[in-house]
Amino acid sequence: MANSWDFTEENTKTLTHGFHMYPAMMIPQVASRLIDSFKSKKSNFLFDPYCGTGTSLVEANVRGIDAIGTDLNPLARILASAKTTVIEQKTLDLYLKDFYDHLFQFRMGFSKNDSIPIIDEIDIPHFSNIDFWFSKSVKQDLAIIKAYIDTLESESVRNFFNVAFSQTIRDCSWTRKNEFKLYKMDSEKVKTFKPNVFAHIEQVLKSNRFALLDFMNQKRQPSISHVYDFNTVSGIPLEIVPNRSVNLVVTSPPYGDSQTTVAYGQFSRLANEWLSYSNSQAIDRNLMGGKKHEAIERFDCSRTLNGQIAEIKARSQKRALEVYSFYKDYYDSIANISRIVKKNGHACYVVSNRCVQGVTLKTDLITKHFFEENGFRHVQTFTRKISSKRMPRKNSPTGIAGKASTLMNKEYIVIMKKA
Ligand SMILES: C[S@@+](CC[C@H](N)C(=O)[O-])C[C@H]1O[C@@H](n2cnc3c(N)ncnc32)[C@H](O)[C@@H]1O
Repeated sequence: MANSWDFTEENTKTLTHGFHMYPAMMIPQVASRLIDSFKSKKSNFLFDPYCGTGTSLVEANVRGIDAIGTDLNPLARILASAKTTVIEQKTLDLYLKDFYDHLFQFRMGFSKNDSIPIIDEIDIPHFSNIDFWFSKSVKQDLAIIKAYIDTLESESVRNFFNVAFSQTIRDCSWTRKNEFKLYKMDSEKVKTFKPNVFAHIEQVLKSNRFALLDFMNQKRQPSISHVYDFNTVSGIPLEIVPNRSVNLVVTSPPYGDSQTTVAYGQFSRLANEWLSYSNSQAIDRNLMGGKKHEAIERFDCSRTLNGQIAEIKARSQKRALEVYSFYKDYYDSIANISRIVKKNGHACYVVSNRCVQGVTLKTDLITKHFFEENGFRHVQTFTRKISSKRMPRKNSPTGIAGKASTLMNKEYIVIMKKA
């Protein structure tokens, strides 16, 4: 269907979109159609308050639109920055050649770069449970790569390498690849799993190099993305995004709190630990709904939500408080975002309606109610089917390895316009 938002047959890994896997990514075709449909004829400036890997930022930049994204997950910020940062081809190729030479020297048994220690002196990071996730030889090879990347002075080049490093960490670890939460492979698989770390990162780098060149070729006009780590739930720094400065918000918020839906922090933990982000275990607690509020209060603007929370409360007080805490954060975030959108600007939210205790939470309607309360009017809500490839076949919201739950198979694209 020409106007379908499903895009089931389309390649979602064009440009830099295939740099690195990440849970619940927005598909570029959705971001792209939203920007084309709702951008202003005059000047444009896009904001994504949950930018993840930066899908909407990439699509803004290829249209010559400047963008700002924010995400509390350090890995997501590296991905979003690397996916939108231009590196001159000559520079990139010099660094890549130097890196491949460096790995070759290590395969031969020595380091050619004086600033990088020889193999016995390589500093292998220590973090909780590292030996549970990596074999000794994988750990050593990753440490060699890390020592090299840490010497790179240019932040853009370092980010480009760190993206490939992060994907390699995941692919060469003993984590099960078809789950977003961290679960170890079974012991039989562990015995036979012998990844070639150097060959793996070389292959990821080669493919990401092509992707970046493609992105740079498609970028018609100069445009830039900036990626930050502020939390729109508590406020938006006005020196970064002034009031009434944005005319397009294109985003896909989390489906619910990380503990019971998609655990972004847990998915990213091994990479964040290797990349030396302290406190990586606390990420999920800091994301929307991660901190529980003390008591449930009514939302003046959404009877739908009040009714649904009451239904859940009748079955589980604990789950009702969790759901309330998520939507309270979501409301505060929308109230703050509403202030930075210009008159006639659009907010496009791609959401899904998850089920808690048998109650389907109507996040599409709730999003509409929250924006209406903050000076927006509803334009339209589109529905799309989610490809089964985007979510793990076995989602484990219960935290029990491999325990399947009903998967969300639809998304709603809620379009609101600031009056
Ligand atoms: C559905 S994902 C976004 C995916 C993104 N559209 C993409 O294509 O990669 C939601 C993101 O929201 C982030 N997040 C959750 N709570 C947040 C908060 N309070 N502030 C900023 N980011 C948050 C998570 O870390 C996650 O990366």
